[in-house]
Amino acid sequence: MLLTDGQGRKHDYLRISVTDRCNLRCVYCMGDDGIEQTSHSAILSYEDILKVVFAGAEIGISKIRITGGEPLVRKNLVKLIRKIAAVPGISDLAMTTNGTLLPRYAAELKEAGLKRVNISIDSLNPVKYHNITRCGELQQALAGIEAALQHDLKPVKLNTVLIKGVNDDEVLDFLQLAREKPLHIRFIEYMPIGDHDLGYSNHYLPLSYIRETAEKAKLPLTPVPLPGGAGPAESYNIAGGKGTIGLIHPISKHFCDSCNRLRLTAEGALKACLYWQDEKPVQPVLDDKKALQALIREVLSSKPLEHQMTADGKCGLVNPGTMRTMSKTGG
Ligand code: 5AD
Ligand code: SF4
Repeated sequence: MLLTDGQGRKHDYLRISVTDRCNLRCVYCMGDDGIEQTSHSAILSYEDILKVVFAGAEIGISKIRITGGEPLVRKNLVKLIRKIAAVPGISDLAMTTNGTLLPRYAAELKEAGLKRVNISIDSLNPVKYHNITRCGELQQALAGIEAALQHDLKPVKLNTVLIKGVNDDEVLDFLQLAREKPLHIRFIEYMPIGDHDLGYSNHYLPLSYIRETAEKAKLPLTPVPLPGGAGPAESYNIAGGKGTIGLIHPISKHFCDSCNRLRLTAEGALKACLYWQDEKPVQPVLDDKKALQALIREVLSSKPLEHQMTADGKCGLVNPGTMRTMSKTGG
């Protein structure tokens, strides 16, 4: 079945945040004392999440991504993965994670039906990684990447937010990593989302910087077809590389016209757009599949044509931006 939004864009992709908690505290994502955590009782149960997945799958959702916060800090997540993988119509099941808990869970996740992971890693320098995440150990994230490769959670993609003055001196190190290992490293433009204390406009850099840096180092990037489920990333081969480079530029060249995503927050809010503040709670209709499907269609019918985030951090007035941080939205 074809699910479309008010602009006629096909929607087949639901991203589900299972928790707003995290074992790290990335500077652009939450304040140093963490976010105000949602109490357990306000978080959708696995049964409720499954109701949304079943309802969505019947009307055109075929891809699911589990996000957080850090999804692996929620108890018994493998159980949810197994159940979602068995829902008729769901053909792709992926997870975005910081990777630090993958050494413990990768084998079980694979066996339960998870197909692939995106691992967020913004630095390859242990001190800087610790500073960006405020508490993380780079070795744990690297071990998570190895565990994902070893257990075939492929293609293994890395998400790296380019932050001026913080990790822009590491671009060549990431390019080198994509030459050495079969990893798809996707640089993401820093977005003015939520309420974070890094200071946005001083730290935004357009991703043209990546191509320029590669060219200067005589490591030219050549465009390639996208690896499975690559979404908004422009994908490139790098000279002599086992992996690829992806560029995701929500600010300098936004990709809203091909957006196929719908989001469910840990608290049960359906959001048509990552950026936009509008959302609708699913709780009142969870026990009525038809009403739940009607709610999904209603939320999509008013999805804005495009976000209005800009490089100076200002937000549009027509479609006001969300005050949720990424950890409370699900990246
Ligand atoms: N801008 C760009 N990317 C962000 N992420 C979190 N917050 C931001 C932001 N303000 C990324 C995370 C993760 C993905 C889900 O989104 O690093 O990789
Ligand atoms: Fe955790 Fe991801 Fe937010 Fe970093 S970006 S604090 S890993 S939820």
